[in-house]
Amino acid sequence: KIKSIQARQILDSRGNPTVEVDVITENDILGRASVPSGTSVGKYETFELRDNKENIFFGKGVLKAIQNVNDIIAPELIGKSILDQICIDQLMLKLDGTINKKRLGSNAILAVSLATAKAASNELNLPLYKYIGGVYTYSLPIPLINIVNGGKHSNISSIIFQEFMIVPVKANSFIEALQMGHKVFYHLKNILDEKGFSTNVGDEGGFSPNFDNGIEEVLDTILEAIHIANYEPYDQIAIAIDCAASEFYKNNQYDYSHFKKSKKETNIKSKEEHVRYLSYLIRKYPIISIEDGMDQNDWEGWKLLTHEMGDKIQLVGDDIFVTQAKRLNKGVKEKIANSILIKLNQVGTLTETIETINIAKKNKYKSIISHRSGDTEDSFIADLSVAFNIEQIKTGSLCRSERISKYNQLLRIENTLGKYSFYSKWS
Ligand code: PGA
Ligand code: ZN
Repeated sequence: KIKSIQARQILDSRGNPTVEVDVITENDILGRASVPSGTSVGKYETFELRDNKENIFFGKGVLKAIQNVNDIIAPELIGKSILDQICIDQLMLKLDGTINKKRLGSNAILAVSLATAKAASNELNLPLYKYIGGVYTYSLPIPLINIVNGGKHSNISSIIFQEFMIVPVKANSFIEALQMGHKVFYHLKNILDEKGFSTNVGDEGGFSPNFDNGIEEVLDTILEAIHIANYEPYDQIAIAIDCAASEFYKNNQYDYSHFKKSKKETNIKSKEEHVRYLSYLIRKYPIISIEDGMDQNDWEGWKLLTHEMGDKIQLVGDDIFVTQAKRLNKGVKEKIANSILIKLNQVGTLTETIETINIAKKNKYKSIISHRSGDTEDSFIADLSVAFNIEQIKTGSLCRSERISKYNQLLRIENTLGKYSFYSKWS
């Protein structure tokens, strides 16, 4: 049974406040969880409650959310069974009573939801992934390793797309996959250094150089790093991108000129031209996955994109689905995308996240578990990916401890499972 719940304000990887919750059971067993926060936040995500007091943390304080946990949620949950995750999540939804968790804040609710699961797994003395997923949990996800940051995740880059990732599609183990990624990451660093680019990193740990010649310059440079590292592009290391297209969609068009700082020419593409450009990119480069190729409201564009390349590559819906069952169901019905990005804080409870993962599975959509650009040292998503034998995880580059904490947890799991572990195959 739950004895006490205590929320507090801690800082995330950008130094912004976020919610951490301790759930303590009657046996004095602790479950502690904290929640992340995004920058390119989808319009349909649940509500992240901030204090909006401009002179304190520039309005980003979360003391109201903390108070909601301590004064509203805790009194209701104390005495409830720690194993009743679904009940606890539903009780919080009821307490909130709004459709987007506006009253209590999804940051407050999610922190309690995750801390509850952790306390339960500790109480039962089970690893978190086994507590959530059961006995048949053995597969380690393929990491989509971020190596170049653009878009909203970089303030100097003129690159309109937000994320460029490498994917070790052919490795024998998770540690080998990381070692392959590490090799490419550091070769890329050397190349950037030799070309006189900055090797400073962005919010998700990828390099953030001031590329001026557009997207193809980034892809060419990544390809060069893959070659120098002696890997076969496509067969061993492939490329994934997150366009985060909602960030440059304006007046029904895709505005590629938006971020160009040093070169001022405008470059606006219609939906058709934008899709044609993505199609050209996947023919020219070893790209196997495109996330948010279209805007979160551009269902027509998404249909076009899916029709054009849905049978060739992975098309991942992030902002369009926001990890929510209702939106994913609509996507399945309208044949939009073929995969979904899973971010716990887009929906706000563990139970709802699992519901969405199950809908994806049923409809043969692949799930990719994901971090946020503002994250904490909490490694819950690592366990979540193993719990459901999910084939892919996107959790940043091979630097910055809030990214590495997830990789390290996966290494611990792989090590514990030993010969029973299985590195996912790209499918
Ligand atoms: P965010 O970006 O965490 O800043 O929203 C991540 C993503 O778009 O996948
Ligand atoms: Zn995204």
